[in-house]
Amino acid sequence: MTMTTDRAAGRRIPRLDAVAKVTGTAPYASDFVLAGMLHGKLFRSRVPHARIVRLDVSAAARLPGVRAVLTADDVPAVRYGPVVQDAPILAKDRVHFIGQPIALVAATSPEIAERALELIEVEFEDLPAVFDVEAALAPDAPCLHPDWRSFTASPVIDRDGNVAARARIRNGDVEQAFRDSHRVYEHRFTTQVVHAGYTESRVAVAKWDGDAVTVWSNTQLPFEVQSTLSGLLQLPVSNIRVIVPGIGGGFGGKLRIGVDHYAALLARKAGRPVRIMTTTEEELTAAHPRQPAIITVRSGVAADGRILARQGRVVVDTGAFAGSGPGVAAIALQILAGPYNVPNLLLESFAVYTNKVPTGSFRAPSGPMGNFAIEHHMDLIADGLGIDPLELRLRNIVREGDLGPSGERLTSVSVEECLLKAADAIGWDRRRPEANRGKGIACGWWMTTGGSAGVYVKIAPDGGVSLVSGAVELGTAAMTGAAQILADELSVDVTDIRLGAADTQVSPYDYGAQGSRTTFAVGNACRAAAAELRRQLFELAAKELNAPVDSLELRSKCVFSGNRSIPIAELARISQLSGGGLIAHGTTNAPPTPYDRSRVENHPLPAWNTPSYHAHAVDLSVDPGTGEIAIHRYVVAQDVGFAINPTYIEGQIEGGVAQGLGQAMSEEIVFEGGRVLNANLTDYKMPTSLDVPNVESILVERASEAGPLGIKGVGEPPCIEPPAAIANAVAAATGVSLRSLPITAEKVLMALRQGPSPSGPA
Ligand code: MOS
Repeated sequence: MTMTTDRAAGRRIPRLDAVAKVTGTAPYASDFVLAGMLHGKLFRSRVPHARIVRLDVSAAARLPGVRAVLTADDVPAVRYGPVVQDAPILAKDRVHFIGQPIALVAATSPEIAERALELIEVEFEDLPAVFDVEAALAPDAPCLHPDWRSFTASPVIDRDGNVAARARIRNGDVEQAFRDSHRVYEHRFTTQVVHAGYTESRVAVAKWDGDAVTVWSNTQLPFEVQSTLSGLLQLPVSNIRVIVPGIGGGFGGKLRIGVDHYAALLARKAGRPVRIMTTTEEELTAAHPRQPAIITVRSGVAADGRILARQGRVVVDTGAFAGSGPGVAAIALQILAGPYNVPNLLLESFAVYTNKVPTGSFRAPSGPMGNFAIEHHMDLIADGLGIDPLELRLRNIVREGDLGPSGERLTSVSVEECLLKAADAIGWDRRRPEANRGKGIACGWWMTTGGSAGVYVKIAPDGGVSLVSGAVELGTAAMTGAAQILADELSVDVTDIRLGAADTQVSPYDYGAQGSRTTFAVGNACRAAAAELRRQLFELAAKELNAPVDSLELRSKCVFSGNRSIPIAELARISQLSGGGLIAHGTTNAPPTPYDRSRVENHPLPAWNTPSYHAHAVDLSVDPGTGEIAIHRYVVAQDVGFAINPTYIEGQIEGGVAQGLGQAMSEEIVFEGGRVLNANLTDYKMPTSLDVPNVESILVERASEAGPLGIKGVGEPPCIEPPAAIANAVAAATGVSLRSLPITAEKVLMALRQGPSPSGPA
């Protein structure tokens, strides 16, 4: 794609909030304070599954400084959840996990609120608890939600007792194809619970004015929090205003409502504003972590390595309430199909209740676990057939115009280019350069989430431009990318553009900063708004220049007719005097992707919007004495459609790889009897800057049809492939196959002692 040099799109322009972020003046939700504000704390269950036989909050309520105490009896008896409305606001008769909120306290200081929690008395009568999905699926398992039939749920979802949701994608006849196969390979994989790892804990400040409430929150989805609060507080949405002053990272962990409802309920009771901010311990025990999964995959292949059939089953532990688990489990099906042509397919997913923390959505939900399974499985097949793993992939990947798993037509398909570029960069021809050293490759695909977006764009009489969106700037610089698109459309500088905070009362609706969609969706909405502003500018300029509209053009912040021109600042001034100013509402909605309905059952995201393709390659050594892995090089080739701002795309890739390596090698929320054993950042091991290797990014630009300037979603993909790339490289280096995440030194060492694992036919 050719761009003139003065265009903003494609350039490494500093993000609009760069100086504020670096100098520490950028506001965050946790900075937000109000006069007279109280501090809220949550009293949580200490047992995984029990009946509450006695709850006494009277001593807590009497403590000086305590202004409100709430139990289930004081809050609406409604249930909530993004897909299945199964979670009560506060536990009433029964608790379902350690960490479940039972009571709320607001006091004049956080210390007093904390002391009040210690004065709450509760007696439990234990119920049989279930901590793993296989136990929950057993025929004689206790039903964790005996009243599950009474819960409201999305009509797409298919539920049954401890199964919160199941979904299926199928095509052809796998049984016949397995019989016709040269070999059939089957492997089982397990993955762990990980936290989204944002820097800023979840926080909310709520303030009532009559029967209307304003909540300042660090949510990723202000409009979803608004509608959820409307249901929980039983008020019209217009009585609820959600403002996001800033957010210290989200990564999906802040999609679902956090503590906003608790702050609002306490503030209503106390008659004063209430702030709640979670602690690190609460984050690691009772936030919305990534689901652990058990995945089995079975592939039938021809002698030349072509995949003839694939059967896959993914069971995710969704925790005590369904949370985001149903959608996440279903999305795993597209990941298990992979960017491969598989003529016979039978993929099933289950989201299963246990007595553990309810789970959420974390960057490329289902991606790292599903891709780990399928891409390590591919290497085990390659090993079994004696075919190079890259070659096996090249024989099976999808190409332009092929059909995806749901029968959707795939366009701007770039997985071959990504694989070849990553392999070339890592030096694939020397895959095992020395003893205990090996290279691994993994590829994948991911959606650019659709959903509608609106923006307001206003031009001030000095030519400044405000961009008002309901999309939150999560820290990715996605909104700077949108501003680059807008700047070019209006012929202004990016630095002329100012971003408004997302505010449900004044921002147009946006489906939210999620699913790698922000620059894609907001960028398209900006183009629509700019088209409308050009119409307004030309109408005014035609009068001022006494020239026909079709003779006008917009460039260099002026409207030209031949060699006569008028600045847009001047047109904005004229409009303010006579026409109420220059403002436009631009909207967009990604069109649904057509697919074959006969292939897909009970799937909330049956066919992906504008998928991207990517490949990761790693070169590492394994210390045979300790099992420790040393990464020498890490290469990512990612199709971004069009690199709107290479600096921040590389930043997304580097950060995504860091998170993916955390899941691959070190991070795990460890449970024992439903209790988290490592609820602190010393024992929960996120990679630090010393652990993360230099990441080499190769930006592939295969323009999409639907994205502004051809862009595709960028943010989530980089965390998908690291676990598989590491597992494949460890196998290349040592001959052992690790099928359980995280791949810690301890697990590698134990596997080395057991000797090479045969990949062999099942
Ligand atoms: Mo994401 S898990 O859609 O923020």
